[in-house]
Amino acid sequence: MTKPLSNKLNKRIYIQEVVTRDGFQAESAFIPTQEKITLIDRLSNAGYAKIEVSSFTSTKAIPMLADAEAVMQGIKRVPGVEYTALIPNLKGAERALAVGVDEFNLVMSVSEAHNQANLKMSREDSFKALSSVIELAHANKTPVNISLSTSFGCPMTGITPLKELMHWIERFSAQGIRGITICDTTGMANPAQVQEVCEFAQYKHPNLQWTLHFHNTRGMGLANALAAVNSGIDRFDSSLGGLGGCPYAPGATGNICTEELVHMLDLMGLKTHVQIDALLECSKDLQKLVGRTLPSQLLMAGKVDRIYAAPC
Ligand code: COA
Ligand code: ZN
Repeated sequence: MTKPLSNKLNKRIYIQEVVTRDGFQAESAFIPTQEKITLIDRLSNAGYAKIEVSSFTSTKAIPMLADAEAVMQGIKRVPGVEYTALIPNLKGAERALAVGVDEFNLVMSVSEAHNQANLKMSREDSFKALSSVIELAHANKTPVNISLSTSFGCPMTGITPLKELMHWIERFSAQGIRGITICDTTGMANPAQVQEVCEFAQYKHPNLQWTLHFHNTRGMGLANALAAVNSGIDRFDSSLGGLGGCPYAPGATGNICTEELVHMLDLMGLKTHVQIDALLECSKDLQKLVGRTLPSQLLMAGKVDRIYAAPC
């Protein structure tokens, strides 16, 4: 039987915005640097716990985020908000250190095929490379998070066995990292699987900071987030308007939509501290910026307190 939701009332849920990284990385037209900075500055005042500003990846691999340094240096940092960035290797880490990111978010895939497609190396080579990045982070007192892509499923190899995910969690956790993000890169997870994975991971490593990262590719995104909340998870990545997707994962589409996640959790009595009206304004402007309708259903329908005139 599901636990009663009342025991979770008032619980803080930490929301981490990824639109300027996961969102913008797959756009076909380059978003001007100043537009990225303006958006982050608006989001910085909306109550987020963390914002993933950009990624320090090869500019050939992800040209949309080639301006990572300029964006990081251009934003006004708001106290209490952590500014993180995605990092695939030592070169990326050195670039990120030079502009003072608050956290290294290192990336690797649980699936060998996706790691080869995304990072052009084997998981073992990634692990070796990331181990030296972790040493660099420790020497510079920078906290490390590991984002494990394709943790639930891979579009090239199918459902990811929990044992395989735990293998990489064990190896990274032995290196003194702060947290791990369990990523459903192409929306293959279902709520039962999410509950099992989240409960087991937290049971094995209660002191790690756990984040769940869902994509809504098959319409299971918010259901998965709720399953994660029910298993004790209190930290989520999400993307404004539902923009997003990995360019190296066939069939990838947007992340769970931040305004929909915040709207749902707040209605349930959980506390995100994120200002939903500010998000909706930013999301409306984001539609203009990318020149198309975003997947956000909340943007279309309005919040539940929207009242229509009765038909005459
Ligand atoms: N930042 C900037 N440039 C980088 C870099 C980094 N972090 N890492 C590598 N490069 C440059 C190298 O200097 C080299 O440049 P050159 O051709 O001018 O000499 C070139 O990229 C190739 O370097 P190499 O080490 O051979 O990398 P690669 O081509 O095997 O690519 C990655 C490996 C990981 C750097 C690349 O695949 C990548 O950045 N992928 C991005 C993954 C991603 O963000 N996916 C979406 C999110 S999950
Ligand atoms: Zn993602």
